[in-house]
Amino acid sequence: MIDIDGKTAVLGLIGNPVEHTLSPLIHNTIAEVDGNNTAYLPFHVYDENVEMAIRGAGALGIKGLNVTVPHKKSVMPFLDDIDELAEKIGAVNTVVFRDGGCKGYNTDALGFIRELKEAGMCVEDRSVVVVGAGGAANAVVHALLSLNVREILLFNRSVEKAEKIFGDFKDVKIYPLEGWKGVLTGKYPCIQCTSVGLAPKVEVSPIEDEEFFEHIESVIDIIYRPAETKFMRLAGEHGAKVFNGLSMLLYQAVESYQLFTGEKVSDDAVKKAGKRLAEAVWKN
Ligand code: ATR
Repeated sequence: MIDIDGKTAVLGLIGNPVEHTLSPLIHNTIAEVDGNNTAYLPFHVYDENVEMAIRGAGALGIKGLNVTVPHKKSVMPFLDDIDELAEKIGAVNTVVFRDGGCKGYNTDALGFIRELKEAGMCVEDRSVVVVGAGGAANAVVHALLSLNVREILLFNRSVEKAEKIFGDFKDVKIYPLEGWKGVLTGKYPCIQCTSVGLAPKVEVSPIEDEEFFEHIESVIDIIYRPAETKFMRLAGEHGAKVFNGLSMLLYQAVESYQLFTGEKVSDDAVKKAGKRLAEAVWKN
């Protein structure tokens, strides 16, 4: 446990709700292992109080805040500066308070990039399959574009919704979920970004057709509960390397913590936080 004293730097999370968050577990484990004097707390902030929360955090000398649903967009007008990638994504999940001002970042994208590397998935100059077009897909698509993929083949239930978000991106081709036939010709890295298959409704997959999975070389599914989604299982049965979203959750927190403190998180701390996170998520 952290010993709180007069010099403890306060970090936290704002969201609505925040009761089920795993972020305190990750951030406080990192502090413990690396011997940093930080304490990370959840703050339940209602929609109409986001501006007050940011101003209040600045006034209290809070060093950093994560931002979760539904405030990732609505927090943006109240920040003094926004990192370029977060601006492009149109969502902030990390706010760093420094020198009397505050700056917003998006570590969902950074965490995803780190997970891609750890998984050994090479996407540069490749065609990459993305399934889904919600908030998570948005961060993933921008991360992939920043890694110079050749193109993104994006499949979503609602083409209209996907067009609204990605319609202006020349390297993002949008199709309905069943539109892969005739489009996929070889093997592709794939990122599953829908909420389909999330516990407790685990026996569903956004795409069920076995033939689709013959085209999938590797998968990161952003879902981490269950540890193996039906999408992952089907891909695995066709020889794909599969990864769930727990590492992304861990790495976005690690990237945030590094922004909060300005120091690199040790490998030991990442490992310990990952172990505790897995125990907390999959204990049942
Ligand atoms: P998040 O912010 O977590 O990404 P979201 O913005 O609600 O969540 O997006 C959820 C994604 O899951 C979307 O791609 C959604 O498809 P639509 O854009 O067509 O709504 C997809 N999704 C959710 N339920 C689905 C279902 N039953 N079948 C197929 N796709 C589904």
